[in-house]
Amino acid sequence: MDYRQLVAEAIHNELKDHMELNEINRLLERPKHAEHGDIAFPAFQLARLFRKNPAQIAQELGDSITSPVISSTQVIGPYINFYLNKKTVSQSVINDVIKEKGHYGELSIGNGGNVPIDMSSPNIAKPMSMGHLRSTVIGNALSNILAKVGFSPIRINHLGDWGTQFGKLITAYKKWGNEEDVRSEPIKELLRLYVKFHDEAEDDPTLEDEGRAWFRELESGNEEAVALWKWFREESLKEFEKVYERLNISFDSYNGEAFYNDKMSDVVSLLDEHKLLTVDQGAHIVDLDKYDLNPALIKKSDGATLYMTRDLAAALYRKDNYDFSQSLYVVGQEQSNHFKQLKAVLKELDFDWADSIHHIPFGLITKDGKKLSTRKGKVVLLEEVLNEATAQALQQIEDKNPNLPDKETVAEQVGVGAVVFHDLKNDRLNNFDFTIEEVVQFEGETGPYVQYTRARAMSILRKAGVESLSPSEPFALSDDYSWEVVKLLHDYPDTVRRAYENYEPSIIAKHAIQLAQAFNKFYANVRVLDEDPEKDARLALVFAITEILKEDLRILGVETPDEM
Ligand code: ARG
Repeated sequence: MDYRQLVAEAIHNELKDHMELNEINRLLERPKHAEHGDIAFPAFQLARLFRKNPAQIAQELGDSITSPVISSTQVIGPYINFYLNKKTVSQSVINDVIKEKGHYGELSIGNGGNVPIDMSSPNIAKPMSMGHLRSTVIGNALSNILAKVGFSPIRINHLGDWGTQFGKLITAYKKWGNEEDVRSEPIKELLRLYVKFHDEAEDDPTLEDEGRAWFRELESGNEEAVALWKWFREESLKEFEKVYERLNISFDSYNGEAFYNDKMSDVVSLLDEHKLLTVDQGAHIVDLDKYDLNPALIKKSDGATLYMTRDLAAALYRKDNYDFSQSLYVVGQEQSNHFKQLKAVLKELDFDWADSIHHIPFGLITKDGKKLSTRKGKVVLLEEVLNEATAQALQQIEDKNPNLPDKETVAEQVGVGAVVFHDLKNDRLNNFDFTIEEVVQFEGETGPYVQYTRARAMSILRKAGVESLSPSEPFALSDDYSWEVVKLLHDYPDTVRRAYENYEPSIIAKHAIQLAQAFNKFYANVRVLDEDPEKDARLALVFAITEILKEDLRILGVETPDEM
């Protein structure tokens, strides 16, 4: 049921031709204070329509609006406040959840349309940064949200696997590296070689020339260079896979920058045909003055193609290959300009789908207020963060519930869940300071708190012997504590819709926290297992809560242990 819609219809019944149903629905508000009812209709617009004062028209209209979901109406000034019939609403909402389980809240906005989501996209031979972690978990949550509202998400890892750095890396490897070290700790060793290259190049500028020469060899297909590049790529990818596995995230495509090597000349010709290319100091650029943007660099003076050219090729490829209804790029906000340029160039090429390309930026993770940097090896290693969080989770379990079966698995679910939830609970554009202590906090608004709340609800169901429920029973509740829970369950489809419209996983995370808090209040104040006529309905509510907390966390990419 959608009580908002039902109230809107009841109002519409009285207003008929004077105001559209959609308009009424749009005007409905949630009062800030519970004592002002569950839903309110402000009469300002009506007042203008009828040329009366708002309080007067609210008064006249108030009592005539009736519906089975409305239990009483109270007019305060220009507002008509509705109190809903808790029994009617709770019965219908609880039954909806029991019927639909994890499918509750699904919407059919997307019509199955394909949505490529460019996400994670770390750079080969470098450690995955916290920024890449953000892109990975935000991208994953958005994919789940998109699927929930009826799109077909396609997770694409646009690996940074091409560029002049590979010339440097080959040079450094041939001078100072060996196979064994790369095999045993690929990313650490490749990073060491890369850093050494830059250190040495400060004293010996010929190194840079050598690096460039090797990159040219790579671009022209020199066997040795290509073999080394392939090998570096594979070894790095293996390490990234370990992280993805722990996060439970998989990709539909690993087509990175190198994939577009043979698609670049087409892009350049297309730009040429549209007479968009100009030569500036030997480089080919697209002028974007009329968009108030810097020119897009397409080809360097030495003929090398660039990040932008690859993204143009990728955009065209994705349109051809997936015929997308929209195309998302989950990339840090420091690249906003790049994506503005990308869209602008596509517009200059007269592609009407340029507007369905959306950059989904996110804020920085900082340390003591400063940006974390990969250069000079100053990085927070994601794997270490996950290990630390898991170790702390295990410690908590040992303290609180030493007899828990399969402790290691649960600790991994809680530790990794803590890291992921911590990342997703704030508006994605916020910067936040990273401290491991804060990530592994299990109290307050955290992933482990939500997981723990759900495990507690599960144990109530176990105690009561409830395994599954059928929606036939009249599960109606009327107390104030269950009502807060019922409202949050009721709002779930709307929450999912808002998360989609704003591309904002934190809306789901906040819903999970509110629902967990509302359940804990309910459980502290209502005797769930007491034998009385509402017992079955209370258990049904607890069951519904476990389903929706699980669904919230699933969308975010966080697992839900049944016991912890
Ligand atoms: N590899 C890039 C980086 O680490 C991110 C790539 C984002 N995706 C894209 N299509 N440009 O900065």
